Formats: sequence, C-alpha cells, structure tokens
Amino acid sequence: MNPRPKLLITRKVFPEVIERLAPYFDIDSNQDDDEWPRATLLARAADRDALFVVASDRVDPELLAACPRLRIVATGSVGYNHIDLAACGERGVVVSNTPDVLTEATADMAWALLMATARRVCESEHWLRAGKWGRWAFDQWLGADVYGTTLGIVGMGRIGSAVARRARGFEMRVLYHNRSRAPNEAELGAHRVELDELLREADHVVLVLPYSAATHHAIGARELAAMKPTATLVNIARGGIVDDAALVDALRAGRIAGAGLDVYENEPALHPGLLTVPNVVLTPHVGSATRSSRVGMAMLAAENLVAFATGAALPTPVATA
Ligand code: DGY
Repeated sequence: MNPRPKLLITRKVFPEVIERLAPYFDIDSNQDDDEWPRATLLARAADRDALFVVASDRVDPELLAACPRLRIVATGSVGYNHIDLAACGERGVVVSNTPDVLTEATADMAWALLMATARRVCESEHWLRAGKWGRWAFDQWLGADVYGTTLGIVGMGRIGSAVARRARGFEMRVLYHNRSRAPNEAELGAHRVELDELLREADHVVLVLPYSAATHHAIGARELAAMKPTATLVNIARGGIVDDAALVDALRAGRIAGAGLDVYENEPALHPGLLTVPNVVLTPHVGSATRSSRVGMAMLAAENLVAFATGAALPTPVATA
C-alpha cells in the first residue's frame, strides 16, 4: 500500500476539518496557531506533498524550491494573490481556493462597513463611551444618507454582485466598474461605467476587486481627489488596492467623508495615520468571519485536498497556466 501523502496545515482549523482530512493524509499541523517565522514554514513544509495555507502564507519560488515533493496548495481563502500561480504551474503544483462559501458573509460585511462609516457609528460610539454625551442636538453626528443614493462597486464578481443585490433594498442607483460586462447587470439593475465616472458619481464606493500588480494602488491620491467630498470608501478586498498613505491624507484633508476598511497594506501592521484619523472604521480582516462561512472555507479547502488524495477532480481549482 502506498503511504498516505504528507500534508502540512499552516494554521489552526476547526476539528471537523482535521477529522475529514485524517483518513487521507499524514498530517502535521499548527493547531496551537503559533506565529511561524518564514524559516519554520519552509522547514515544516520541506517534505510535504500537500499544503493547506491561508492568505498570509506566501507561496513563492523560494517556498516551492524548499518543497520538492509538493503537488498541491489548497488555500483557505477565495483570494490567491499570495500564491505565485506561474511558479506553481511550472512545477506541476495544483492550486485550489474557496469561492462561493464566503460570498454572502463578505457582502454583509461590506454593508456593515458602509453603514457604520456613512452614519459615523464608531466615531459617535467612542464619543459616548468617553462620557462626552451631555445633551441631544439637531446637528450632532450628522452622517451621510444611504437610502436612495448612488453606490459604486469596483469589481463585479460574486461578492460585488451580492453587494449590488443588497442595494436594491435601499433603492440605490448602482454603478460598477469591471474589466468585462457583468452578465447579471440587468438583474442587478447595475450600470457599467469607467472608474473615473464611478468615483465622480458615487456617494458610497465599495472595493471588491482582486489584488494583482495591475490593481496595486488602483485607489490613490488622484482617485481619492476625484471622489465627492461627502463620499465614503469601503475596502473589503485586499490591502494594496488602496494607497493607505494617500487615504490618510485624503481623510485628514476632508477630501472624502470617511472610510471603512477591513484590509490594509502590510497587514496586520497598519499605517499609523489610520489610527489617528477619526472618520475611519477599522476591522481586522474579518469580512468572511461568520462561523458558517469560515467552516465552509476550511472544509472546501479540505475537500480539494481529499479530491487530490483520491485522484478525483478538484472542486474549486485555480488555473496555474
Ligand atoms: C479571502 O478568502 O480571500 C479572505 O480575504 C480571507 O483571507
């Protein structure tokens, strides 16, 4: 009998996921959720046939060279910008991700950030907790309207569509910017426009596009200056799409009204300015963080690994060519 393939799971996962994988793999896993230095990851991965990684694990030529037996990388994330797909393809390493299972939870979070930012929920809560609420006033904590305004969605894939679907309940005009026309734009009542037009017109801008070299700093000083001074910006996609330094400047100067951010350049480190500007809502990359969504992600990564171990087609492969 062939020995079971060797799998490394780089982060703590739910017990049912380990149970699902155990019959098929000889498992080494980081169930203590220790913060591994890069050298530890490379050493622990060195004799593995399979890796279960997350978005903070960089799978690059260095790691691939350190793992000569590696045949599959399953990431517990829908995003795969941390994986060098071309390098995986060259070495015959297959890759999978976790689409769909997090779509609705992530779209909910986009709305949570949009609403909290527009209506200044966190700013006013901090003020209240600081004991500063002495009396009610007509002009206290005035925020931005959401109902009946214009929503601009940058990136109209699964999550962008789910964000747009929710906007119907708010009777919003929906503009989107995407490389290709969304096949469901009529159903969503969404209109495709150039990025500059979207930035000029939208009262609320939500970023849901994948990160790549082409989308690095897609929202920088020029784009922020194009937005309405009353507009809000939400990023639930990836750090690096927004130039965080330019955003801090724009928020400080009142060039836009506020921002709701779940992702950051260099996270978990934050641009220090983000902690000092009041009109920003900050969450720690929790867009998909509901139990059902996170279990779904980890289980889908496991199903891809089981398919690999049993010679079946991967349920959600990522093209590496
Ligand atoms: C994803 O799935 O890409 C989320 O950002 C979690 O990493």
